[in-house]
Amino acid sequence: MKIQKICCIGAGYVGGPTMAVIAKQCPDITVTVVDINEARIAAWNDENVDNIPVYEPGLSAVVAEARGRNLFFSTDVDKAIDEAEMIFISVNTPTKTYGEGKGQAADLKWIELCARQIARVAQGDKIVVEKSTLPVRTASTLKDILTHTGNGLNFQILSNPEFLAEGTAVDDLMNPDRVLIGGDQTEEGKNAIEALVNVYARWVPKDRILTTNVWSSELSKLTANAYLAQRVSSINSLSELCEHTEADVNEVARAIGTDSRIGPKFLKASVGFGGSCFQKDILNLVYISRTYGLHEVADYWEQVIIMNDHQKRRFAKKIIRNLYNTVSGKKIAFLGWAFKKDTNDTRESAAIYVADHLLNEQSKIAVYDPKVTEKQIFSDLDYLGSRSPEENRKQLQAEKDPYKVCKGSHAVAVLTEWDEFKSYDWQKIYDSMLKPAHIFDGRNLLDKEALKAIGFQVHAIGSTN
Ligand code: UDX
Ligand code: ADP
Repeated sequence: MKIQKICCIGAGYVGGPTMAVIAKQCPDITVTVVDINEARIAAWNDENVDNIPVYEPGLSAVVAEARGRNLFFSTDVDKAIDEAEMIFISVNTPTKTYGEGKGQAADLKWIELCARQIARVAQGDKIVVEKSTLPVRTASTLKDILTHTGNGLNFQILSNPEFLAEGTAVDDLMNPDRVLIGGDQTEEGKNAIEALVNVYARWVPKDRILTTNVWSSELSKLTANAYLAQRVSSINSLSELCEHTEADVNEVARAIGTDSRIGPKFLKASVGFGGSCFQKDILNLVYISRTYGLHEVADYWEQVIIMNDHQKRRFAKKIIRNLYNTVSGKKIAFLGWAFKKDTNDTRESAAIYVADHLLNEQSKIAVYDPKVTEKQIFSDLDYLGSRSPEENRKQLQAEKDPYKVCKGSHAVAVLTEWDEFKSYDWQKIYDSMLKPAHIFDGRNLLDKEALKAIGFQVHAIGSTN
């Protein structure tokens, strides 16, 4: 079966970039990305491609090339579903905030709504592709809804988890380590798998396209994220030990990373991992394990989250301790709010939790992030509900100028590893700060010796001063 029309439900950080790259690489396939959020679709359609809602290096150029040719963004969900032979589901699956599984299980409300909508609208057979990260066995839920509420049509469910990392999404999509496609092992299932393989095979070498059964594919996605997050928590746990033993976490990371069995990637100690996936996926893994009564398995993975929460809290506490045990009324400058560099995404960003902790201690905070808007910063803080929106706006301000943010502050805290922070005029910043001027480098980004030579008191993650 040759796919001619693809529909993607959900124009977010996953759906948008993934479909843009598929459209770029397959000019003969019409790709329509739909979303119920009108503002988001309007932004994807903005004449100026620099205003698309997702910031990703290289993405605007890809959208500029394909949009209007074979890439379309629309709010007409029904029409796109009806016309496509293949429908990707790329909607949000946040952790449940209510009821059974609250705080752990994924909320599948939006996925179910999509399935019901597809069943209602479809007039021909469809291949439905799970793109969002989902708990294992969600495909059977989808299949159940589609076959029981659909018009007697044939629906094949594939799992095709996304492995792109934000900030490098376009590169990851263009040159993936692997593409994973899971499907039923029946003849129809295999045909559906083949149809999707043929889409990716336009630009991905065949030996990098792995096909499995649906459950393996679903579980592999959770597991890949759990392993990556575990590496970050492991090095972060050692960063605390380093701070007590005069070992240096960067040196330790380099030493262990040269072992080819361990490898050098994902060994950067930090203020804690963030992003929409790691925490959610591990919580999912923990929840699933517990529902099968596998408490040792659940406890094992839960520790990755416990360590991450500890690391964020520890960083905030370190700031307070070094500012003579009180930050009340003191200005602390935050450089970075995004959960990592080269993205405007702030979901689960460590900066939010560090700020919340400091605001509870009545500090003042000024924030500069090259890509995150003031609106987003306040929305992140207000969402926590720790204090009123008015109080958040009284205690915290966001600025467009990093020098203004640092001016008159007691301390600068680096929360995101944006490259531009390295090239600031740190002498000028030092001169404008209250003394002693502290820097808390939550990313080991800055040149410690150069800062010390200027006069800063430097506190970097994972080393003594
Ligand atoms: C992750 C997975 O990498 C990707 O494959 C999956 O599809 C989605 O989840 P993402 O969350 O976009 O991608 O970013 P990633 O680069 O994995 O970083 C996650 C968090 O870990 C960030 O907050 C980052 O700063 C932190 N991190 C990463 C570290 O603190 N140290 C490291 O060495 C690496
Ligand atoms: P991700 O990082 O997984 O892409 P996002 O939250 O960035 O998550 O994007 C998910 C998108 O899915 C949102 O823009 C949301 O409006 C959209 N969405 C959720 N449910 C539906 C639905 N039933 N129909 C269309 N779009 C939906």
